[in-house]
Amino acid sequence: MSQIPSPIVAPTPLTRLRRLRRTQALRDLAQENTLTPHDLIWPVFVTEGSNERTPVPSMPDVERLTIDLVVDAAKRARDLSIPAICIFPYTDPSLKTELCEEAWNPDNLSNRAVKAIKDAVPEIAVMTDVALDPYNANGHDGIVRDGIIVNDETVEALTKMALAQAAAGADILGPSDMMDGRIKSMREALEQTGFQDVAILSYAAKYASAFYGPFRDAVGASGALVGDKKTYQMNPGNSDEALRLVARDLSEGADMVMVKPGLPYLDICRRVKDQFGAPTYAYQVSGEYAMIMAAAQNGWLDGDATMLESLIAFKRAGCDGILTYFAPRVAEQLNH
Ligand code: PBG
Repeated sequence: MSQIPSPIVAPTPLTRLRRLRRTQALRDLAQENTLTPHDLIWPVFVTEGSNERTPVPSMPDVERLTIDLVVDAAKRARDLSIPAICIFPYTDPSLKTELCEEAWNPDNLSNRAVKAIKDAVPEIAVMTDVALDPYNANGHDGIVRDGIIVNDETVEALTKMALAQAAAGADILGPSDMMDGRIKSMREALEQTGFQDVAILSYAAKYASAFYGPFRDAVGASGALVGDKKTYQMNPGNSDEALRLVARDLSEGADMVMVKPGLPYLDICRRVKDQFGAPTYAYQVSGEYAMIMAAAQNGWLDGDATMLESLIAFKRAGCDGILTYFAPRVAEQLNH
């Protein structure tokens, strides 16, 4: 972080900080941080079928899309200069099992979507989610035995899942499960199987958050989830622990790291960026999106202005990019 020299300024009136706020041109010239479409990763929900969109009630303007329409979304992203799209599958409940075998099926919905996008729009980066929750009969990110989310067996399953995603053509794997040791296991497996150039964006500092509620509706996991995720996701009261997690994941071969949720955890983004200088991302999660959209729909907030302000905040906090459901809408405005 840049150090502000001291004394900062001459006394008023020699220094009047309002001088550089007087006109739009001067404000533009003095602006420290900017948001561009290149900062965005667009999360999309994919579902079986063709040419069908299903609205997600708790996420206004967000829809589950069939693979053909996800391909259209990827083309739209490319045309808007959004570099990456992130796939989340809505899994049919009949495919959910205790051992989550569908997760590493090479032809599962997510892997078919990745292939379809890479065939049609090879220039866009495709990111996937590595966690068992879409495929788990009890909704957890890991395998459950006697009520315990078992770590090492889950890591083995996640590693198989990661390899299947890499084989499908994913450019970036996003392990969002918070098991210990999963980055090392995936990185070693990728090296050994010829996928050494696949990037890992680790959900390193992922908190056990109430802000994920609408997402769980979108992927159909809310009904399935038994209990909560507090034995693997972070305690919102912690901050030093986030640095330990990021250090650990970088040392195991993560290329990029994420803080999640976003706005309520900007202090963590700043600490992570300052401490490690690694490519750092934040996820503006479903609940953050829903809050802004709900207030805007009620006429209580200006939706576009709030969207833009919320996203520049991530850049100010040191993030290199943001996963956000606002991606196409904000990119349209920024390209305007
Ligand atoms: C699951 C996963 C979650 C999100 C991304 N991957 C939910 C959870 O951990 O329960 C949340 C995203 C959002 O709320 O927008 N592995």
